[in-house]
Formats: sequence, C-alpha cells, structure tokens
Amino acid sequence: MNKQSPITTSPLHVSVKHDSAIKQVAGRADYIDDLVEPEGTLHAYLGLSSKAHADIASMNLDAVRAATGVVGVLTAEDIPAENDVSSVHKHDEPVFATTRVVTWGQPLFAVIGETREAARRAAKLAKIEYRELPHVTDVDAAVAAGGKLVTEPLKLERGDVEAGFAASQHRAKGRVRIGGQEHFYLESQAALAIPGEDDEITLQVSSQHPTEIQVMVAQVLGIPHAAVTVNMRRMGGGFGGKETQGNLFAVVAAVAAKMFNKAVKIRPDRDDDFQITGKRHDFVVDYDVGYNSDGKIQAVTATYAARSGYSADLSGPVTDRALFHCDNAYWYPTVKVNSLPLFTNTVSNTAFRGFGGPQGIIAAERWIEDIAYALGKDPLEIRKANFYGTDTDNVTPYHQVVEDNVIHRVIEDLEQSSDYQARRQAILAFNKTSKVLKKGIAMVPVKFGISFTATWHNQAGALVHVYRDGSIHLSHGGTEMGQGLHIKVMQVVADAFGVPVERVQITASNTGKVPNTSATAASSGTDLNAMAALDAANQIKARMIAHAAFIYEVEPKDVQWEFGGVRAGQQFVPFDELATSCWMNRVQLSAAGFYKTPKIHWDRSTGRGHPFYYFAYGAAASEVTIDTLTGEYQVDRSDVLEDVGRSLNPAIDIGQVEGGFIQGMGWLTTEELWWDGKGQLRTHAPSTYKIPLASDVPRIFNVRLAEWSINKEPAIGRSKAVGEPPLVLGYSVVEALSMAVASVADYKVAPQLDMPATPERVLMGVERMRRARQG
Ligand code: MTE
Ligand code: MOS
Repeated sequence: MNKQSPITTSPLHVSVKHDSAIKQVAGRADYIDDLVEPEGTLHAYLGLSSKAHADIASMNLDAVRAATGVVGVLTAEDIPAENDVSSVHKHDEPVFATTRVVTWGQPLFAVIGETREAARRAAKLAKIEYRELPHVTDVDAAVAAGGKLVTEPLKLERGDVEAGFAASQHRAKGRVRIGGQEHFYLESQAALAIPGEDDEITLQVSSQHPTEIQVMVAQVLGIPHAAVTVNMRRMGGGFGGKETQGNLFAVVAAVAAKMFNKAVKIRPDRDDDFQITGKRHDFVVDYDVGYNSDGKIQAVTATYAARSGYSADLSGPVTDRALFHCDNAYWYPTVKVNSLPLFTNTVSNTAFRGFGGPQGIIAAERWIEDIAYALGKDPLEIRKANFYGTDTDNVTPYHQVVEDNVIHRVIEDLEQSSDYQARRQAILAFNKTSKVLKKGIAMVPVKFGISFTATWHNQAGALVHVYRDGSIHLSHGGTEMGQGLHIKVMQVVADAFGVPVERVQITASNTGKVPNTSATAASSGTDLNAMAALDAANQIKARMIAHAAFIYEVEPKDVQWEFGGVRAGQQFVPFDELATSCWMNRVQLSAAGFYKTPKIHWDRSTGRGHPFYYFAYGAAASEVTIDTLTGEYQVDRSDVLEDVGRSLNPAIDIGQVEGGFIQGMGWLTTEELWWDGKGQLRTHAPSTYKIPLASDVPRIFNVRLAEWSINKEPAIGRSKAVGEPPLVLGYSVVEALSMAVASVADYKVAPQLDMPATPERVLMGVERMRRARQG
C-alpha cells in the first residue's frame, strides 16, 4: 500500500490560517501600488470641483498642461464613447462633469504625468469659474427643498395599520438620526491599465466587482466586453466602498492608457478619496409605533429618509435593504414602511457593510427602547415579547415566512454566558451610589437576511484545473478583501479532492477566467463561489473516478474517494499519481463550475416574495461607563454570540465578528462626517474623522460562534454568511450608553441618543436628563 501524506484529515471546518496572513504581516502581499510597473508607466490625478452645485462658466487648463512632467490632460471631450460610469446605468454619473457640477469634489479632468507627484501638483493649477446654484447637503435640507429622489422608493405593507393603531393602548412616536460612515479601507482606490493590441486592454484593480469594471471600461471606450480583461488579486479592504466606487478610477486609467498607449496608474490621496467616493447612507427615520402595556407591538409605520448624494448608485437597493430590516427579529402584526432615497449635493452614497440593513435594524431598536423606557422595563424584556414566533407570528413585512428562527436560543445562550441579569442588577446598584460615573448595559439581537435582493446576482462561477503533478489551480468569481473568502473556497476544494489546503493555488480573480460575475457583496461570497468551485471539483472528480475504475477494472461505485487518493478495489492510488494517469490517458482535468441560489424570488412592485435564502442571527451584550461631567466613555465589556451555521473556518469567522463589531461600534460612536455650509466635506482625514483604535476595543471582549447552529441544505458545508451581520451588534454599545445616560433621570425618560453617539452627544443627553429630572 502506498504511503499517504502526513496530513490525513480534511481542512474543512478547521481554523486554517488566511492564505495571505504571513505575506500581509510581513508586507509582502501585493496591492496595486506594489505591482511592478511596465516600462514608461504614466500616472493620472484627478482635478476636482470646489463647489457643491454650480454651472461651470469656464475651465482654463493651460497652466495644468504647461506644468513640468505633464504629458496631457483628459476632459469629457477625450472620452471615446460614453461619458458615464453610473453603476445602475441611469446615466447620472459622468466620468467628468461638462457644464455643471452637482457635488464638491466632482471630477472635472485628469492630469496625466510622468510621475504621480507631477500630475498631482498640476491638477491644482486649473482656473475654473463657476456660477453657483443653491445646494442641499443633508436630509432635512433635501426634504425642505421638495424631496427630489435619486431612484424609485419602496413601500412594504402587511395587515391593516389603522386597525393596529386602534387596538394599541400606547404610541411611541419619534425621529432617529443615524449617521453615515467612511469606509476607510487601508488601500485607497487604485487602478493600473495596460493597453494591448487593437481594442484590447488589461486592468489591475482594487475592486469588489471586476465584471462591473470591465463593463464600465468597455462602455466608456466603446469596445466589446470581451476586449477588456480585469485582474484582481486582493484589496486592502473594501467594505462595500469598492463595489461601484472604483469605476471612475479604472476608466480614467483606461482612457489615458489607450490615448497615450502606455500603462497608466491612478491612486488618489486619502483626502481626495474621502472627497470623491460615496459613503454609508445616513438616515433620518420618522416612526409611529402602537403597542400595549405588555410591551407587544401592534402597528408600525415609518419613513426611512436617506442622504443618497448626487446620483442613484446603489441607493435603491440600499434603502430597500433598510426596509427589509425594519423588523430586525420582531413580528409586527401590522406594518407600513416606505423609503425616501433623497438627492443631495454630496458624494454619491453607496454600499457599506450591511448595505442599509443596519440602519433599518437600529431604527427598530430605537422604538423598542422607547417602549421599554415608557413602560419602565429592561429593553431586553420588550425584545423577547416581540420576537418572531412559530405560528402566524412569523411573517415579515415583505411576506416571507421566517422558518429558521434561532433568536430565542441565541439570546438565552448569551444571557447565560455573559451573566447579563446579575450584571444588570449590579449596574443598577452602582448607578444609585456613583455620582459622576454611570454605567449601562444592553443586549441587542440581530437577524440579517442573506442573499442579494436582486435575484439575478445570486449566481457564481469557478474554474478549477488539476495539473498532472496533482497541484490544483483555483479561480472563482469572488474577490478577496481581507474577509477570508479565498481560504474558505480553498478549503472546500481541498476537502473535495481530499488534499491538504496547500495543494490548492488560489489565483487572482480574472474576468477572462470566470465571466459575468456578481460583486463580492451581501456577505454571500462564500455561499456562492464555494458552491461553484465545488461543482467544478465534482465534475473533475467524476472523470477521475471513471478513469480509476477503468484502469483498475472495477465498477465506478467501488472506487472510494479518500483523503490523499482513491481506493479502487484493493488498490490505493495517491491523488497526484491518479492525476498523472488521467493526463496520460487523455482525461480532461479542468472544469468550470456554476451555482445559483435556489428558492428565492422577489417582486418589488408588490413588495412580496422570498428574497432571502436564510437568515443569520447574532446578539451582543455591552457594558459601558460614562463620565457625566464630560460625556467621555469607555466600553468595559462586550460579549458577542454569532450564528454562522457550521463554521467553515472558526478563526476567520471570529475575526469577521470581531472586526464587524468594532467597525459598527466606530460608526455609531465616534465616526462623524461633517459638511460645512458650502457643501464641502471637512472631515476627510484621520485627523478629523475618528475610526476606532486598538485602545477602543472593549476591555473585555468575548466573541463566540453558536456551535450548536447548522444551516440547511444546500449551503456550503452547512455554514452561514458572516461578513456583514456582526457589524450591527456594535449598536449594543450605543444602547448601553443610553442606559447610562437615562440613569441620570432614574430611567424614566427615553434617552433617544442619535448616532454617532459621540462624547458630545452623550453629554447633551445627560443635560437633557438633568433638565427632565428637574421637571
Ligand atoms: N472584512 C474585511 N477584512 N475587509 C472587508 O473589506 N468587507 C465586508 C465583509 N468583511 C470586508 C470584510 C463586506 S461589506 C462584505 S459584503 C463581506 O465581507 C464580503 O465578503 P463575503 O461575501 O466573502 O463575506
Ligand atoms: Mo458589502 S456592503 O455587501 O460590499
């Protein structure tokens, strides 16, 4: 019998380290700016508008052209075909503005220089005259100016809300403001375009959506999709900010590359990236909720107004997803909600981890809190009273039945492990005697719908080759942004072939290898691409099994696939020997795989369907201490429990939960975007925009996966998506802050903290409570 390799078990469901971990720590992982530049590479830099809304009276670029090191300037006139990079094809996002600018920082031209520095300096030399027009930068101003929308709003409705209100003993009415968020990916937007023969062009990009880059470059150059090849090895973070926002940079590099027949690279400074690219939508949610003295909600109506910016981009699907999460984990007997994706003269807001879902969930948690304070109860009690059940109380506002509800178990499990009840009692006692410092604790659930709501995006492809030495080449339609997608797909392929994960070589995502891909988004990268890769692996395996049966003269059913090779009757043949034998006997060792999510559908016009294949659940309990004299606070402890089904890689998943939680906490507590009266974003660098530091991590941070959970079939390895849902759990910190604030008025007044709950807002909340207390 042949000797097997020393690793004898499958790498699936094991904490295998990230395929790039060592390279990233050692600084050896390549990002766009690290790639070896082709001889004579030129550099592009964008010239931006310095008005939020204005007609362009004149644009004099003579000084730009004359500057040292400048090779040329691109304006809208130099675009060969369409001057448009709007991702949803609404023709509302020109590459370069022509007669009018609609946001501060809108690109007007690009300088092409011999060096990046030359291009960057020259871009500042343009002389542009504007005739200013009135601008609106936020939701309130947009509504006051008539409420122009960037795309069709959505309405969801179930049951008779008027009857629901009539049957309610109490009402909670209010408005919650939830701020936006800058992605702050460590690698800024970047692209390198390399011209080829005839129409051909190849790009290296930092994008979650290589196919969209391909489509945009083809559209702007007026060439077939097939002439454009987009290569994407890894991003230094995307977080949704590289789903569509890379389009502009890639097409500018592409147009310049074709124009000068040289490779062209583009990489904006951090401040410019901040000013040019869209962010998370901030929301203002107006709500009216009917409930009874037992805390049970009877009716919900709410309007979700969002700052969409100057173009549609993904604002339609983002505001839709807010509505899809207006219920979080709660059953509303009657409900009527609508979205308002408002036009504003600001950057065009876009996808950001959770894609509007978190804003929807947080609004729900706000009215839960209002109800709790009105009834003098722990918000957790109100939550439990309203959780989806198993009877008629399991239908969502979009008429999908919740079939996989595990929120009760998640909450029960976390309540135990975090010792929530005893700690809450201790905190109530502490607040009675502590004069300046006050504490708060809160436990928040999350239910998050998994699938793209645009059903056609729920498809994926993969390409797998087995070489004759038994090494495996893997390419799939997803992109790596740090989330660990590649290692998970590698694990699935290694498990399928029964080989160590090191045998699988992951390669850059490439539109020439796997075509017509969806964005790596909606947390479904692994769900989709690992299934497609498994399909490809299974095709090759079937041929290898047939071949083994033939040469060892057994029935195919008597060929057993084992770790390390196959057993054909009495013979064991190692995987690499079988691969060689297949090649010698002309058996194809390559396959393209495909997957589409089953059982999902959605009709936007009726607001009904089954848009989500399943739900991911989670909960967090956070404890904070605030200083009631300054508003400063610290997070003392957070306990998180996340349902990822049967984890494909627990270490990666824990990392996603930790990172998501901290990113959500940062969004809701310290990250504040601020536009001045002229419509300029003034928080455009880490000096003014405060993302969480290592020192902001909760002093005690216990993160666990719900080991008892398992997803249904088909789902890759019975796992669940993990990328976005944990972000929302950062809200537990805000609600803990609310409790600490509310203690000042003996918990009799709902604190209604808006977000981000900065120390300033906490202090204002404390002052509000002091006034309330004095009557
Ligand atoms: N994790 C890291 N480290 N970097 C990222 O950019 N993006 C998040 C999440 N986790 C992101 C991340 C977002 S917005 C999504 S949609 C998912 O990862 C996408 O990857 P997945 O579908 O493979 O989970
Ligand atoms: Mo994530 S916001 O779906 O890229």
